[in-house]
Amino acid sequence: MHICHEMERQDKETGNVLPGFVSQPIEVVEDMLKSTIQIWETTESCKRLRTILTAAAKNNDNLRDISKIVGFAFGDISSERKSDSALAPPRSYFQHALLLTLRDVLLQIKGEENSNDSTDKLRCFVQDPSYQDVDDQVLKKSGITILEDPDGFLETDDSTAVLSFAPNVPVRQIVCDIARPALIIWDTVKPEKKTDIVTTDPDSNRLREMVNDSYDMFEFQDYERRFGNVAIYIRRPSAPAAAN
Ligand SMILES: C[S@@+](CC[C@H](N)C(=O)[O-])C[C@H]1O[C@@H](n2cnc3c(N)ncnc32)[C@H](O)[C@@H]1O
Repeated sequence: MHICHEMERQDKETGNVLPGFVSQPIEVVEDMLKSTIQIWETTESCKRLRTILTAAAKNNDNLRDISKIVGFAFGDISSERKSDSALAPPRSYFQHALLLTLRDVLLQIKGEENSNDSTDKLRCFVQDPSYQDVDDQVLKKSGITILEDPDGFLETDDSTAVLSFAPNVPVRQIVCDIARPALIIWDTVKPEKKTDIVTTDPDSNRLREMVNDSYDMFEFQDYERRFGNVAIYIRRPSAPAAAN
Protein backbone atom coordinates (compact mmCIF):
# COMPACT_ATOMS: atom_id res chain seq x y z
CA MET A 1 0.00 0.00 0.00
CA HIS A 2 1.32 3.43 -0.91
CA ILE A 3 0.49 6.50 1.16
CA CYS A 4 1.38 9.69 -0.71
CA HIS A 5 0.30 13.27 -1.01
CA GLU A 6 0.86 15.82 -3.75
CA MET A 7 3.10 18.78 -2.97
CA GLU A 8 3.53 22.08 -4.79
CA ARG A 9 5.98 24.88 -4.13
CA GLN A 10 4.71 28.45 -4.30
CA ASP A 11 6.52 31.72 -4.69
CA LYS A 12 6.18 33.43 -1.28
CA GLU A 13 5.49 36.85 -2.75
CA THR A 14 3.35 36.14 -5.83
CA GLY A 15 1.75 32.87 -4.72
CA ASN A 16 2.49 31.45 -8.18
CA VAL A 17 3.18 27.73 -8.36
CA LEU A 18 6.89 27.13 -9.02
CA PRO A 19 8.05 24.46 -11.47
CA GLY A 20 8.57 21.25 -9.50
CA PHE A 21 11.21 19.19 -11.16
CA VAL A 22 13.79 20.57 -13.58
CA SER A 23 15.76 18.10 -15.68
CA GLN A 24 19.20 18.97 -16.89
CA PRO A 25 19.78 18.93 -20.65
CA ILE A 26 20.24 15.44 -22.05
CA GLU A 27 23.84 16.16 -23.18
CA VAL A 28 24.83 17.16 -19.64
CA VAL A 29 23.37 13.98 -18.19
CA GLU A 30 24.99 11.81 -20.86
CA ASP A 31 28.40 13.39 -20.32
CA MET A 32 28.12 13.01 -16.56
CA LEU A 33 27.18 9.33 -16.89
CA LYS A 34 30.11 8.69 -19.24
CA SER A 35 32.61 10.40 -16.95
CA THR A 36 31.17 8.60 -13.90
CA ILE A 37 31.68 5.24 -15.63
CA GLN A 38 35.31 6.19 -16.31
CA ILE A 39 35.89 7.24 -12.70
CA TRP A 40 34.10 4.19 -11.29
CA GLU A 41 35.91 1.68 -13.51
CA THR A 42 39.31 2.84 -12.17
CA THR A 43 38.32 2.40 -8.50
CA GLU A 44 39.57 -0.44 -6.32
CA SER A 45 35.95 -1.21 -5.40
CA CYS A 46 35.05 -1.83 -9.02
CA LYS A 47 38.14 -3.93 -9.70
CA ARG A 48 37.52 -5.99 -6.59
CA LEU A 49 33.89 -6.58 -7.57
CA ARG A 50 35.00 -7.86 -10.99
CA THR A 51 37.55 -10.17 -9.34
CA ILE A 52 35.04 -11.58 -6.82
CA LEU A 53 32.43 -12.38 -9.48
CA THR A 54 34.87 -13.84 -11.99
CA ALA A 55 36.41 -16.10 -9.33
CA ALA A 56 33.03 -17.17 -7.92
CA ALA A 57 31.70 -18.04 -11.39
CA LYS A 58 34.33 -20.78 -11.77
CA ASN A 59 32.47 -22.94 -9.25
CA ASN A 60 28.99 -21.50 -9.45
CA ASP A 61 26.73 -21.83 -12.51
CA ASN A 62 24.13 -19.59 -10.87
CA LEU A 63 26.16 -16.59 -12.02
CA ARG A 64 26.46 -17.86 -15.59
CA ASP A 65 22.68 -18.41 -15.73
CA ILE A 66 21.77 -14.82 -14.83
CA SER A 67 19.49 -13.44 -17.57
CA LYS A 68 18.62 -9.99 -16.23
CA ILE A 69 19.66 -7.30 -13.80
CA VAL A 70 17.11 -5.28 -11.83
CA GLY A 71 18.22 -2.14 -9.96
CA PHE A 72 15.93 -0.60 -7.36
CA ALA A 73 15.89 2.93 -5.97
CA PHE A 74 19.07 4.36 -7.50
CA GLY A 75 17.41 7.78 -7.79
CA ASP A 76 17.23 9.70 -11.05
CA ILE A 77 20.28 11.07 -12.81
CA SER A 78 18.62 13.95 -14.61
CA SER A 79 17.70 16.37 -11.84
CA GLU A 80 19.94 19.25 -10.97
CA ARG A 81 21.32 18.68 -7.52
CA LYS A 82 24.46 18.97 -5.53
CA SER A 83 26.73 15.96 -5.24
CA ASP A 84 28.17 14.81 -1.92
CA SER A 85 31.46 16.43 -2.86
CA ALA A 86 31.88 19.42 -5.14
CA LEU A 87 33.90 17.36 -7.65
CA ALA A 88 32.29 13.93 -7.59
CA PRO A 89 29.13 12.99 -9.50
CA PRO A 90 26.09 12.23 -7.30
CA ARG A 91 25.64 8.72 -5.89
CA SER A 92 22.85 7.82 -8.33
CA TYR A 93 25.34 8.08 -11.20
CA PHE A 94 27.70 5.62 -9.52
CA GLN A 95 24.85 3.21 -8.85
CA HIS A 96 23.91 3.17 -12.54
CA ALA A 97 27.61 2.80 -13.44
CA LEU A 98 27.80 -0.23 -11.14
CA LEU A 99 24.86 -1.83 -12.94
CA LEU A 100 26.69 -1.37 -16.26
CA THR A 101 29.86 -2.92 -14.79
CA LEU A 102 27.80 -5.86 -13.63
CA ARG A 103 26.34 -6.33 -17.10
CA ASP A 104 29.85 -6.27 -18.55
CA VAL A 105 31.33 -8.79 -16.11
CA LEU A 106 28.32 -11.13 -16.27
CA LEU A 107 28.46 -11.14 -20.09
CA GLN A 108 32.17 -12.00 -19.86
CA ILE A 109 31.30 -14.86 -17.51
CA LYS A 110 28.75 -16.07 -20.07
CA GLY A 111 31.38 -15.78 -22.81
CA GLU A 112 29.38 -13.08 -24.61
CA GLU A 113 30.54 -9.75 -26.02
CA ASN A 114 29.19 -6.58 -24.42
CA SER A 115 27.58 -5.03 -27.50
CA ASN A 116 24.19 -3.74 -28.65
CA ASP A 117 23.30 -7.30 -29.66
CA SER A 118 23.85 -8.58 -26.13
CA THR A 119 20.88 -6.72 -24.61
CA ASP A 120 18.68 -9.81 -25.10
CA LYS A 121 21.18 -12.06 -23.33
CA LEU A 122 21.25 -9.89 -20.23
CA ARG A 123 18.38 -7.43 -19.92
CA CYS A 124 18.81 -4.46 -17.59
CA PHE A 125 15.96 -2.79 -15.70
CA VAL A 126 15.70 -0.07 -13.08
CA GLN A 127 12.76 0.92 -10.90
CA ASP A 128 12.49 4.28 -9.16
CA PRO A 129 9.54 6.70 -9.31
CA SER A 130 11.87 9.69 -9.58
CA TYR A 131 12.93 9.03 -13.19
CA GLN A 132 11.91 11.61 -15.81
CA ASP A 133 11.94 11.67 -19.63
CA VAL A 134 15.60 12.65 -19.80
CA ASP A 135 16.57 9.67 -17.62
CA ASP A 136 14.58 7.41 -19.91
CA GLN A 137 16.34 8.72 -23.02
CA VAL A 138 19.85 8.49 -21.55
CA LEU A 139 19.41 5.11 -19.89
CA LYS A 140 17.76 3.61 -22.98
CA LYS A 141 20.93 4.42 -24.95
CA SER A 142 22.89 2.39 -22.38
CA GLY A 143 20.48 -0.53 -22.73
CA ILE A 144 18.68 0.11 -19.43
CA THR A 145 14.86 0.08 -19.32
CA ILE A 146 12.97 2.01 -16.67
CA LEU A 147 10.08 0.13 -15.05
CA GLU A 148 7.14 1.37 -12.98
CA ASP A 149 6.54 -0.07 -9.54
CA PRO A 150 5.80 -3.03 -9.18
CA ASP A 151 7.22 -4.21 -12.53
CA GLY A 152 10.79 -4.37 -11.18
CA PHE A 153 9.57 -6.87 -8.59
CA LEU A 154 7.62 -8.81 -11.23
CA GLU A 155 10.84 -9.16 -13.27
CA THR A 156 12.75 -10.46 -10.24
CA ASP A 157 13.27 -14.22 -10.19
CA ASP A 158 16.00 -16.72 -9.36
CA SER A 159 18.01 -15.91 -12.49
CA THR A 160 18.15 -12.20 -11.69
CA ALA A 161 20.92 -10.02 -10.29
CA VAL A 162 19.28 -7.57 -7.88
CA LEU A 163 20.76 -4.24 -6.83
CA SER A 164 19.22 -1.96 -4.22
CA PHE A 165 20.72 0.90 -2.20
CA ALA A 166 18.83 2.68 0.60
CA PRO A 167 15.38 2.36 -0.98
CA ASN A 168 12.33 4.19 0.38
CA VAL A 169 10.37 0.94 0.14
CA PRO A 170 11.13 -2.48 1.70
CA VAL A 171 12.85 -3.90 -1.39
CA ARG A 172 14.73 -6.62 0.51
CA GLN A 173 11.57 -7.84 2.27
CA ILE A 174 9.62 -8.01 -1.00
CA VAL A 175 12.43 -9.77 -2.89
CA CYS A 176 12.78 -12.24 0.01
CA ASP A 177 9.08 -13.12 -0.50
CA ILE A 178 9.28 -13.73 -4.22
CA ALA A 179 12.68 -15.08 -5.23
CA ARG A 180 16.18 -16.26 -4.41
CA PRO A 181 18.11 -14.13 -6.93
CA ALA A 182 21.39 -15.61 -8.11
CA LEU A 183 23.28 -12.44 -7.19
CA ILE A 184 22.37 -9.58 -4.90
CA ILE A 185 24.17 -6.38 -4.03
CA TRP A 186 22.19 -4.46 -1.43
CA ASP A 187 22.30 -2.93 2.06
CA THR A 188 24.12 -5.35 4.36
CA VAL A 189 21.78 -7.59 6.35
CA LYS A 190 22.92 -7.06 9.93
CA PRO A 191 22.94 -9.50 12.83
CA GLU A 192 19.94 -9.23 15.16
CA LYS A 193 21.62 -7.17 17.82
CA LYS A 194 22.30 -4.29 15.45
CA THR A 195 18.77 -3.63 14.27
CA ASP A 196 18.01 -0.49 16.26
CA ILE A 197 18.12 1.82 13.24
CA VAL A 198 14.79 2.99 11.81
CA THR A 199 14.73 2.30 8.08
CA THR A 200 12.23 1.90 5.25
CA ASP A 201 13.87 -1.43 4.30
CA PRO A 202 14.40 -3.10 7.68
CA ASP A 203 16.37 -6.23 8.49
CA SER A 204 14.32 -9.14 9.76
CA ASN A 205 14.77 -12.76 10.82
CA ARG A 206 13.38 -13.89 7.47
CA LEU A 207 16.01 -11.86 5.65
CA ARG A 208 18.79 -13.12 7.91
CA GLU A 209 17.65 -16.71 7.33
CA MET A 210 17.58 -16.16 3.58
CA VAL A 211 21.12 -14.82 3.32
CA ASN A 212 22.60 -17.16 5.92
CA ASP A 213 21.00 -20.31 4.48
CA SER A 214 21.46 -19.68 0.77
CA TYR A 215 24.19 -17.13 0.10
CA ASP A 216 27.91 -16.57 0.31
CA MET A 217 28.55 -13.02 1.40
CA PHE A 218 31.43 -10.82 0.26
CA GLU A 219 32.28 -7.40 1.59
CA PHE A 220 31.71 -4.59 -0.85
CA GLN A 221 34.41 -2.16 0.08
CA ASP A 222 33.74 1.36 -1.07
CA TYR A 223 35.16 3.92 1.27
CA GLU A 224 33.73 6.86 -0.71
CA ARG A 225 30.20 5.94 0.45
CA ARG A 226 28.80 5.94 -3.09
CA PHE A 227 26.53 3.01 -2.24
CA GLY A 228 26.26 3.00 1.56
CA ASN A 229 27.01 -0.03 3.71
CA VAL A 230 26.33 -2.75 1.14
CA ALA A 231 27.40 -6.36 0.61
CA ILE A 232 27.58 -8.82 -2.27
CA TYR A 233 25.51 -12.00 -1.89
CA ILE A 234 26.01 -14.91 -4.28
CA ARG A 235 23.54 -17.82 -4.09
CA ARG A 236 25.40 -21.03 -3.31
CA PRO A 237 25.28 -23.71 -6.00
CA SER A 238 23.74 -26.09 -3.45
CA ALA A 239 21.07 -23.64 -2.24
CA PRO A 240 17.52 -24.32 -3.42
CA ALA A 241 15.81 -21.78 -5.65
CA ALA A 242 12.68 -20.03 -4.35
CA ALA A 243 9.72 -22.25 -3.54
CA ASN A 244 6.88 -21.38 -5.93
C1 LIG B 1 17.03 7.49 0.23
S1 LIG B 1 16.87 7.52 -1.54
C2 LIG B 1 18.27 6.55 -2.01
C3 LIG B 1 18.77 6.97 -3.35
C4 LIG B 1 20.08 6.30 -3.77
N1 LIG B 1 19.91 4.86 -3.90
C5 LIG B 1 21.21 6.58 -2.81
O1 LIG B 1 21.82 5.63 -2.28
O2 LIG B 1 21.54 7.76 -2.60
C6 LIG B 1 15.52 6.42 -1.75
C7 LIG B 1 15.11 6.18 -3.18
O3 LIG B 1 14.03 5.24 -3.18
C8 LIG B 1 13.20 5.58 -4.27
N2 LIG B 1 11.90 4.92 -4.22
C9 LIG B 1 10.77 5.32 -3.60
N3 LIG B 1 9.77 4.46 -3.86
C10 LIG B 1 10.26 3.49 -4.67
C11 LIG B 1 9.72 2.33 -5.29
N4 LIG B 1 8.44 2.00 -5.13
N5 LIG B 1 10.52 1.56 -6.05
C12 LIG B 1 11.83 1.88 -6.23
N6 LIG B 1 12.40 2.99 -5.68
C13 LIG B 1 11.64 3.77 -4.89
C14 LIG B 1 13.15 7.09 -4.18
O4 LIG B 1 12.63 7.70 -5.35
C15 LIG B 1 14.61 7.41 -3.93
O5 LIG B 1 15.32 7.59 -5.12
